[in-house]
Amino acid sequence: MPLFHVQQLIKISFICLGFLGLALPSAPSFAQTSAGNINNRSLAATCANCHGTDAVTVPNSGMPEIGRLNSEEMLSKLKAYKSGAQQGTIMPQLAKGYTDEQLTTIASVLGKK
Ligand code: HEC
Repeated sequence: MPLFHVQQLIKISFICLGFLGLALPSAPSFAQTSAGNINNRSLAATCANCHGTDAVTVPNSGMPEIGRLNSEEMLSKLKAYKSGAQQGTIMPQLAKGYTDEQLTTIASVLGKK
């Protein structure tokens, strides 16, 4: 290969590396956004055992149908369980395990859109 071509190739490689360098800073923020979405959905997924996937109740499970509540209604119920204002068998204990921020996230994922 003539020397001229080798020099051209090296130049092109450096230009490509330069573009990579420009592209990289945006990569971590993309990763954070995706991880955030996964985290939000997995927080809400813990409710599926009893309330069904995406808050669609399994027929005859005897569980309350939470999918009919919008996010605001769901959040206020969850906060009432957490504070003790609302009695229950399971939910008061469960709700106490989450921060208000996490309950807000869960209600926003599962609440009726
Ligand atoms: C182990 C089963 C179980 C799990 C897990 C569970 N729930 Fe419940 N949920 C219940 C039961 C049972 C009730 C009825 C109240 C009680 O006895 O605690 C209820 C009631 C509710 C209500 C009130 C419904 C209404 O119409 O008043 C909401 C809202 C709710 N759950 C949301 C959630 C959310 C959000 C999660 C996930 C963080 C969750 N639940 C996880 C069993 C569960």
